[in-house]
Amino acid sequence: MKLIYSPASPYVRKVLVTLKELGLEDKVEFVKVTTSVVDQSDVLAAANPLTRIPTLVMDNGKPLYDSRVITQYLVSLAPSCGYYPASGEARWDVLRLEATAEGMMDSAVNARYERGLRPAEKQWDDWVDGQMKKVHGALKALDGEAASFGDGINAGIIAAACACGYLDFRYGDMGWRESYPALAAWYGKFSERKSMQETKPA
Ligand code: BEZ
Repeated sequence: MKLIYSPASPYVRKVLVTLKELGLEDKVEFVKVTTSVVDQSDVLAAANPLTRIPTLVMDNGKPLYDSRVITQYLVSLAPSCGYYPASGEARWDVLRLEATAEGMMDSAVNARYERGLRPAEKQWDDWVDGQMKKVHGALKALDGEAASFGDGINAGIIAAACACGYLDFRYGDMGWRESYPALAAWYGKFSERKSMQETKPA
């Protein structure tokens, strides 16, 4: 398999952590690209019509995207891990948790792009505030669930950790830990895992 990636992306980090936790890293060739909406990577465009990272090219040459599709594929290679429970309430709990975390990434990344990529005179403060309101909504929901995570791991928990990690990376002065202490306590422990340490964006 070939993973086209950029280490700053929280969606990529989800895939990298999943690969490491499942011991599948050796099966992957890593192709690092630099890409953005306004400067799109040709390598990525050749593999993915949406030109988005992460993109996983399977051994049969077909690409998979987005990160949720990729993690489902990786978990299918290690089905006993249970990262996506097969059925019942447990399945929907994991899928909801993953969607909450990815939604938090979406809003945090959107706001980051607005501030980091758009010319200052075109930036829309209310839009950024609205995105950050969604980030806080997700943080509140994750904080309410964090006590139930324990020492466990699944696709939703990995996504939650990578979403928190992205806030630390791009919103270092946000101080989310004070407002969401249960999430902070859980993340403090989870982020010590080797897979998280080795994928920390520089
Ligand atoms: C970032 O640099 O913050 C970033 C890069 C790729 C995807 C998402 C975010």
